[in-house]
Order: sequence, then structure tokens, then C-alpha cells
Amino acid sequence: MPSISNPGTFAERTQKSPREVGGGFVGGLRARDPFNGGGLMGVIARYREHLPIGPNTPEVDLHEGSTPLVESRNIARALGLKQLFFKYEGVNPTGSFKDRGMVVAVAKALEAGHRVLMCASTGNTSASMAAYAARTGVRAIVVVPSGEIALNKLSQALMYGAKVVAIKGGFDKALETVRELCHRYPVALMNSINPHRIEGQKTAAYEVIDTLGEAPDYLLLPVGNAGNITAYWKGFREYHAAGRSTRLPRMVGAQADGAAPIVTGQPVANPRTVASAIRIGNPASWEGATSARDESGGAIEAVTDTEIISAQIRLAGSEGLFCEPASAAPLALLFRLVQSGRIEKEATAVVVLTGSGLKDPDAALKNVEPPIELEGDARTLAKVLKL
Ligand code: F0G
Repeated sequence: MPSISNPGTFAERTQKSPREVGGGFVGGLRARDPFNGGGLMGVIARYREHLPIGPNTPEVDLHEGSTPLVESRNIARALGLKQLFFKYEGVNPTGSFKDRGMVVAVAKALEAGHRVLMCASTGNTSASMAAYAARTGVRAIVVVPSGEIALNKLSQALMYGAKVVAIKGGFDKALETVRELCHRYPVALMNSINPHRIEGQKTAAYEVIDTLGEAPDYLLLPVGNAGNITAYWKGFREYHAAGRSTRLPRMVGAQADGAAPIVTGQPVANPRTVASAIRIGNPASWEGATSARDESGGAIEAVTDTEIISAQIRLAGSEGLFCEPASAAPLALLFRLVQSGRIEKEATAVVVLTGSGLKDPDAALKNVEPPIELEGDARTLAKVLKL
């Protein structure tokens, strides 16, 4: 009999041969509950026929994608807007939309024989890449702008076992360094200039149409390195061409005032904004963003940090949806466009909430009331609460 200090293998404890035990799990059990993890399938399984996946592409899956499209209860009413939905990407496995593109890019990198993955990141890409690298047993190296990424995103990359390198000079410098290294060494470049990232990310546009049965009038999202707006526009055009929607949305991108190269038409040498995820001065997919804007008849505009934080707090406080600062930028822009009549009240709008509020709560916390410190009993508490 195995003792507690030497509990033996699982097979010994269950009195079965290893083969019986192993066979039971490896060959047999699968999640059959359609509610498991929100979606039954990951991005690759759900949209395989629209993705560059072949018989030799390894299976990679963390149940990413299939995120909820949550209808606004209070903000739409306050704005007088007919229909407003939030594509809640923060519930992806690593807490941001990056998982959609990363799962496809990692599968393709493995298929090509890569064993080392690398990216530059303002935080979310690094967390996502590190998770999929951990899952598939390959090396992850992430290069982040020193002192500029949210602690929670950094903790994710470290916990998933990535090698983290912090370099001075902001995201743009980090990306330049990574691009050069990947060009010279057998290391897979996992930033959104990797076309497989865009392929995976476009599935979010498919999901919006699959859920609504039609494309919305407006799709609003934050723009940093500009991969996501490029990907959504590709997804919308493909579904439209396939007859899955009868129209295309106007694409509306939000940048932050201090980091708005696409709005001003000039790279920004020292981008500044509270929304560290989109603190980028020279977006790699610049042209993808301007094409999406111009072909769709949309807009890319900048909002202030104050507008961003106030939209983030309002979203959390009136809809129960907590997003990170970058994700609140398009909501801030929506407020402005509806109030100035540039988005008509009869419209249907979808705002993409790209990352979870738990990623980066610090900035918002400075703008909400701190907890009440109390010593005393229920009566004292009731008095403080003015009940
Ligand atoms: N929202 C969040 C939460 C992000 O993390 C990013 C980008 C964006 C929006 C902008 O998307 O770059 O495709 O235009 N984060 C990248 C990163 C740069 O490294 O995690 P984009």
C-alpha cells in the first residue's frame, strides 16, 4: 500500500494499469458540455475553413474566441442610441483579444518547425504569446518597453515562463529590435505583422455577424499598432463577400491624444498616454488602418486621457463591464460622435472591449473613491453609509 509520503502513481492508487488509466484520458474524455468555457471550440476549430489551417498544422487551443456580444442597458439609453453592443474580448484565456491571432500564429510557427517565439509588446501580446508557448512547449522571449507596461501583464508573461527583456525607448524601439533579430536568427516573429495573427483576429468580425445576423453600422475599436483594425476589416469584407452579411460597417478607430500618429499623419517620437496598451508612435500596420478607414467611410480620431478614464469608469459603473484604459478609448469616441450628431441615433454600433480591466486597474483607481476605513460595529457602519 503506498503511504501518504509516497503516494505512488495515479495508476497504483486507482489499482489500474497505467495503460487503462492513460487510455481513459488520452483517447477518450473530451469536453462535451456546450457551455464549457463559453464556447465549445477554440478559434481554429470554429473557423477552420476560413483559416490557413491544413492537415499538418498542429492542434492548439485554449478555448479562445466565442466571446460575448453584450447589449448595452444604460449607456445606449443615456445616449439615445438605438442599439449598442460590447464585444467583450477580456474574457479570452489571457484576458485580451490577442489570443485569437496568437493561437493561429503559434500553430503555424510550430508547423514551420520553429521552437523559439518572440515578440515586442505593450503587454497583452506578450502575455498571450507566453501562454501559447507554455502550452505547446516552445521557448518564449518577449521584449517590452522598460517601465511602461502594466504590472499584471508583466506577471502573466513571467508566470507563463517567458524570458522577459525590458528595453529603453518605448514600444516602437522594441519592435524594431525584435524585427531585426528575427530577420537574422531562426526565431519566429509573433507580432501582428505576422499575417497569421491577422487571420486569427479577423474571426472576431465573423463572430459579430454570426451573432447579429448582419454587420453593424459602426464598429469602434482602439488603434495602437493597427493590426486589429486591419483584421476586423478583413473579416468583415470576407463574410460580406461570402454572403454572410448584406453590408459592411464603417470602421471607427480611436487613438489617444498623445499617441495619435494615424490621426495626425506623422509618427510620434515620444508617445504618451495613460492607455499603455496603445502607447505607440509608429504603427506597423499603418496602411491597414487607413485602408479600413477610407474603404469603409469611417474615421480614426483621438481622445484625451481624461475622456478615456471617464469612459472606463462609466462603462464599469453603468454596465458592469470592466475594461482596460485602451479599450475605453473607442467608447469615449462614441460619446463624442453621437453627441455631435456624427453617428446617427438610429444606428447600431459595436464597441470592441479589447482587454480586461484587471490587466491594468491603476489609472482608473486613482479616479474612484477609495475604500472606507472603519473601526466599529454595524451602527457605526450604518451611520457612515447614511442608511
Ligand atoms: N487594446 C489592447 C488592450 C491592446 O493590448 C492593444 C495592442 C490594442 C487595443 C491595439 O491593438 O495594436 O492591433 O491596434 N496591444 C499590443 C500589445 C500592441 O503588444 O499587446 P492594435
